[in-house]
Amino acid sequence: MSKNIQLMQNVKSIREVDIKGKRVLIRVDFNVPMDDELNISDDSRIREAIPTINYCIDNGAKSIILVSHLGRPKGKSDEFSLKHVLKRLERLLAKDVVFVESLENAQVTLNTLVDGSIVLLENIRFYEGEEKNDSVLSQKLANLCDVYVNDAFGTSHRKHSSTYGIAEYAKEKVAGLLLKKEIDSFAVALSNPLRPLLLIVGGSKVSSKLTLLKSILEVVDKIIIGGAMSNTFLKAIGYDTKSSLVENDLLEEAKDILRSAKEKGVKVYLPVDVVATDNVKDPKEIKITPAQDIPDGLMVVDIGPATVKLFNEVIRVSETIIWNGPLGVYEQQKFSRGTFSIAHTIADTYAYSVIGGGDTADAVDKAGNKDSMSFTSTGGGASLELLEGVVLPAFEVLDKKGC
Ligand code: 3PG
Repeated sequence: MSKNIQLMQNVKSIREVDIKGKRVLIRVDFNVPMDDELNISDDSRIREAIPTINYCIDNGAKSIILVSHLGRPKGKSDEFSLKHVLKRLERLLAKDVVFVESLENAQVTLNTLVDGSIVLLENIRFYEGEEKNDSVLSQKLANLCDVYVNDAFGTSHRKHSSTYGIAEYAKEKVAGLLLKKEIDSFAVALSNPLRPLLLIVGGSKVSSKLTLLKSILEVVDKIIIGGAMSNTFLKAIGYDTKSSLVENDLLEEAKDILRSAKEKGVKVYLPVDVVATDNVKDPKEIKITPAQDIPDGLMVVDIGPATVKLFNEVIRVSETIIWNGPLGVYEQQKFSRGTFSIAHTIADTYAYSVIGGGDTADAVDKAGNKDSMSFTSTGGGASLELLEGVVLPAFEVLDKKGC
């Protein structure tokens, strides 16, 4: 399981190359959530990129070119322009940043800038070639720099021009400080961890966590399953889940996972009681009910108080905790209690806790516990694939230590 992590830890870091007087292109992940007025609602990803940028400034880089995507645009559009993150970036760096709208202008602009300048390139996904890992685009990006640094952990599972293809043409290609921090933090949890090692898994679909559940059985001692995906497991063991979201085509898979966990001595904990409602967005009826006894017409939206107690006891005796996926519809205040209680309990332990990115990071943040976790990843999809045992493509193409 941790074999992929060992391989990923073997990449060369920015600290191992000389960047003085060089042009450094950093692939960052500034794909930050924004509200309807395009205000940034969580700038963690920008904050987490600052140490590498500052490292380049402090170590005399000639210029620093920042490349990122924002959202999933279909061609150019103002909504997805990276100019919306420019001010926040400048504020966090306490420095001016030159915004360059087109890759074609980047080279010319770079030639006119004073040493130590920072450039932010427009959303790289405005170029059709980016997601196709187009070699012409990869080459153009590589031509902008002497050293390519990947610091976009959140996008490290994508084989795109700016995360993958560029490495074929870049002279030196190394990991940034965030990329290293992410992989080293997961290594603490997965390579020779303190035990018991607990995985808490939630979210809506078993299908999206199937590979994780199968592969992680080799590594963990206990698994807590919550969120809508636990409905599929409850139904698989014979409970009537009534109007709850269930993946009926995965009932056999769910049974197999439970069987296999038992064979391997991995304890699996499912909800014993639940919060159920008639309507998630506009609830008229909300009931706390035993998991075996969900009333007709209601669907599960959170774990119940007895389950919180049970899960908390499991958490308190764990030495290492990995959490991926919320345990209820935490975005709705009424259905956030279960997820938030679990966050508070983890925060109160002395266990080493790793929080997967995306929704789980958001939930822990909303619970007010982010700073109490040992580590919160900036990558949702990327951390899931890492936990599944995948060598993430962005790591694959970087220079290795000692080379
Ligand atoms: C993310 O938010 O998970 C990353 O920025 C990757 O974005 P993507 O899923 O659109 O590739």
